[in-house]
Amino acid sequence: MKIVKTILFLLATLTAAPIHATRPAIENGLLWYDTEGNPVQAHGGSFLQIGDTWYMIGEDRSGLWNPDVNMYSSKNLVDWKFEGKIIENGKHRYVYPDGSVGELGRNRMIERPKLLYCEKTGQYVIWCHWEASNYGASEAAVFYSDNITGPYKLHWAGRPLGIKSRDCNVFTDHDGTAWFISTTNENMDLGLFKLSDDYLSVVGHTSLFVGKRREAPAVIRVGDRYFMLSSACTGWNPNQCKLSWSDLLTSGWSELTDIGDAIAFDTQATSILTVHGSKETTYLYVGDRWMDPGLHESKTIIFPIEFDETGCNFEFIPKFELNLRTGKWKTRKK
Ligand code: GAL
Repeated sequence: MKIVKTILFLLATLTAAPIHATRPAIENGLLWYDTEGNPVQAHGGSFLQIGDTWYMIGEDRSGLWNPDVNMYSSKNLVDWKFEGKIIENGKHRYVYPDGSVGELGRNRMIERPKLLYCEKTGQYVIWCHWEASNYGASEAAVFYSDNITGPYKLHWAGRPLGIKSRDCNVFTDHDGTAWFISTTNENMDLGLFKLSDDYLSVVGHTSLFVGKRREAPAVIRVGDRYFMLSSACTGWNPNQCKLSWSDLLTSGWSELTDIGDAIAFDTQATSILTVHGSKETTYLYVGDRWMDPGLHESKTIIFPIEFDETGCNFEFIPKFELNLRTGKWKTRKK
């Protein structure tokens, strides 16, 4: 009887769990759905890894204009759990030094929210583009929270060091120094702003790529070298992604060189992720495929990229699987 019971138990276990379960794959070009079955809305996004959990924030374009900021979490970069709206229209207002008021959802909107963790204060900090509907305000804003899932409070809004600022990103270096990078001076230059120790304000500014009209910057450190991807300024229309590298963030950036095809495989950069696996370090390009066909149907596109001394192998990969533990990835046919 005991043997029969054991066999029945083993059979039940085997049928419940397929032995050769395939690893979930990232398939590019499709709309993503969260674990509750709702479309994922996290455009112009940003990622932060805490332990084995990846958090993603981005613009919720389901209402097209005036996006709220959504947060999702995932353990495999494929299944995304909705953690909530962490910044919402109608809930944040800022009184500028001249007494005028910027109100999210009324005369200000958020684009490209970027998430940082400040070791020194133990706070989560979000820098973003804080803009008027005609893009004339050209401001940034910074929010903070003690918990990654919020609630986030608006700390400051305005032009960093008085400089007009639009498309933006952040970068944290190995020593914890953090930077805000944005398109400045009416889209002419890229501004590299050093953040204060608490990441809540800017304390220095350097102009990069002067007169080159770059936006959607994304910076990564590979060994002791920094690489930056950026696009030209053509609104929602994709254009050539360019690469530059330097051994110092504030100077020495190489000429901009073309990578990938002429329209960055119909994307615009938003992030570069570093997956530190036990066997390999893998870099993932994350771009927005805007207006596909509508703004609310814009897709998030992710594919592995590789850096060498001064270049980047930037080739679209329609479908791949990634082992986040080892860092190894492989293309998938189906
Ligand atoms: C792009 C920018 C987006 C958004 C868009 C509006 O150039 O990268 O973040 O601002 O323009 O047209």
